[in-house]
Amino acid sequence: MTHKLSVAPMMEWSDRFCRSLHRVLSRRARLYTEMVTTGAVLHGPRERLLGFDAEEHFVAVQLGGSDPADLAKAARICADFGYDEINLNVGCPSDRVQNGRFGACLMLEPALVGECVAAMKAAVSLPVTVKCRIGVDDQDSEEAVDTLTAAVVAAGCDELVVHARKAWLKGLSPKENRDVPPLDYSRVYRLKQARPNLPIGINGGIKTMAETHEHLRHVDSVMLGRVAYHEPEILLAVDPELYGEEPPVADAFEAIEAYEPYIAARLAEGHRLHTVTRHMLGLFTGRPGARAYRRHLATEGTKPGASLQTLRDAVAHVSRDSADLEDAA
Ligand SMILES: Cc1cc2nc3c(=O)[nH]c(=O)nc-3n(C[C@H](O)[C@H](O)[C@H](O)COP(=O)(O)O)c2cc1C
Repeated sequence: MTHKLSVAPMMEWSDRFCRSLHRVLSRRARLYTEMVTTGAVLHGPRERLLGFDAEEHFVAVQLGGSDPADLAKAARICADFGYDEINLNVGCPSDRVQNGRFGACLMLEPALVGECVAAMKAAVSLPVTVKCRIGVDDQDSEEAVDTLTAAVVAAGCDELVVHARKAWLKGLSPKENRDVPPLDYSRVYRLKQARPNLPIGINGGIKTMAETHEHLRHVDSVMLGRVAYHEPEILLAVDPELYGEEPPVADAFEAIEAYEPYIAARLAEGHRLHTVTRHMLGLFTGRPGARAYRRHLATEGTKPGASLQTLRDAVAHVSRDSADLEDAA
């Protein structure tokens, strides 16, 4: 199965509730978990950290770590949970992660990354993939990416997803590290030319389906992060535009109807409405009433007794008239 489009791993954002919403909007998008560290997988509350719903497939778990034996154990546990792919984080720049010697600082240790991938490949029969940057700090991007790629390919890596900017490990916050270092898509395109047999994904600053189509002329897959979270309706275009298939639902109104049974089941388990609806604030962006919808969810939706009716009341603020949509656009 080829994955032309993925939704990025995003801490605090791409949890199971968020992924279930995204799955309502596209059958085809590959969905990633938040990063889970090997320490958490091996010693933490596994069901809470790793549990997910069958509807979410195809779902890839992203691991953070740098000890090959621990990564192998964690990969096996994730495989037993039913994940479809294991991804290694070689791109996260936070201080917490640097102290643990994993994430983006592993760009400086390609041989170790190779050992990690080899250990995971030996432990599971799932695809093992890597998400990286084009370098850190004053690394030469040509050499950094080539060296890392050689190491992970030799270890059997099934796909490399490249966030097309460096991480600056000193002086920038993780948030700034997603915007400040300049994007260099051409570096990723050159990698694909040099490694035609290795599936290559591109990530970073991609905001529209038009841009997605353009990137797919050069690489195998596109990974969307913030735009998929803030404007999830973009995912409605994935199945028709990239696979020639009907979208699972026509619009955000239908998406919410289709998603209601899932929300009802989570409420019945004792979850608060907001736990699920906080990922839905970006639906209806651009439609008249979208702001009132968001405000309703942010105020009423966070109250302890909030129910499906609260969500329906929020949606009632949004205009269903497509003529209004064009006016607003
Ligand atoms: C809130 C947030 C959390 C993130 N957490 C992770 C993470 O856990 N693992 C990871 O590899 N990247 C993480 N990222 C980076 C994204 O996966 C992606 O590489 C980055 O946002 C650039 O893509 P975009 O411009 O499409 O958002 C995170 C990004 C955001 C906004």
